[in-house]
Amino acid sequence: MNILITGVSSGIGATTAELLLKSGHHVYGTVRKAGDAGQLTRHPAFSALVMDVTDRPAIVEAMATIKATGQPLHAVINNAGIAVSGPLETIAEEDYRKQFDVNVFGNLAVSQEALPLLHAAREAGETNVKIINVGSVSGYVTAPFTSLYSASKFAVEALTDGMRRELIPFGIDVLSVAPGPVKTPIWKKGKTQTKAFEGNRYSHILSKLAAYTEGAEAGGVEPELVAGIIRDMLESDRPRPDRLVMKRNWVIRLLMLAPKRWQDKLFLKNMESNKRY
Ligand SMILES: NC(=O)c1ccc[n+]([C@@H]2O[C@H](COP(=O)([O-])OP(=O)(O)OC[C@H]3O[C@@H](n4cnc5c(N)ncnc54)[C@H](OP(=O)(O)O)[C@@H]3O)[C@@H](O)[C@H]2O)c1
Repeated sequence: MNILITGVSSGIGATTAELLLKSGHHVYGTVRKAGDAGQLTRHPAFSALVMDVTDRPAIVEAMATIKATGQPLHAVINNAGIAVSGPLETIAEEDYRKQFDVNVFGNLAVSQEALPLLHAAREAGETNVKIINVGSVSGYVTAPFTSLYSASKFAVEALTDGMRRELIPFGIDVLSVAPGPVKTPIWKKGKTQTKAFEGNRYSHILSKLAAYTEGAEAGGVEPELVAGIIRDMLESDRPRPDRLVMKRNWVIRLLMLAPKRWQDKLFLKNMESNKRY
């Protein structure tokens, strides 16, 4: 298969690209800076594309590069993402807009520009044509202080379900893989986001933030686990459209059924013990 994956400079994107290459697929991997694809560029079946998901002309150019190969594009993995943290009351407009620009509108823009290639693949008789969106457990339940990230990932679930239902007549499947905490650089990036907590009534949270973040990452899964599931979803004829990938994921499915006030208590209790879920 020929697969496009956004955000292969690190974490889940880099690990998934690596696994897909090892599994015999051709991978188009996007980076924001030329050179950030690292070891992947050594692989003959890897093509790096420079693209920011918030830059529509760059996305269009990347798709034109793929189209010019004359080969079908079978799948898109919308992996690129950022996690903005901070209290909803104090988070800066610039930051909350960025959260949605990357995780939601960037995801949609990449899918929109890739769809003509995916339709062309189906019309040429290719099967297993798919879009896989990397969501999050935060798209199922909302922990305090990453609420905007959660809102963006709830939106990713909506885009996934809506687009799947719109594309059923065309034979293109749209799926979401929603990991719980995964050991990737995203956590380290989050630790530096303290601005929205400073000098206001949430400043007491700052002393807990590092331990809370470290606790969540330490309890996380390795990116290889997520990569393996993405590969299975790509290769399977009829995969489950909503994969929640975390240890004891049944706890989350159960939590979603619990009354909201009960959920509130659990999140506050968890924060006290530096646990996220
Ligand atoms: N790690 C977790 O615990 C976890 C859990 C659930 C879901 N996820 C999701 O998994 C996905 C990958 O995250 P990760 O954990 O692997 O984190 P990561 O290592 O920080 O990787 C994020 C990737 O997205 C790219 N990216 C960020 N902003 C971009 C933009 N505007 N345009 C294009 N690419 C951009 C980054 O590129 P640069 O290097 O250029 O910034 C990087 O390649 C995200 O959607 C994230 O929300 C992660």
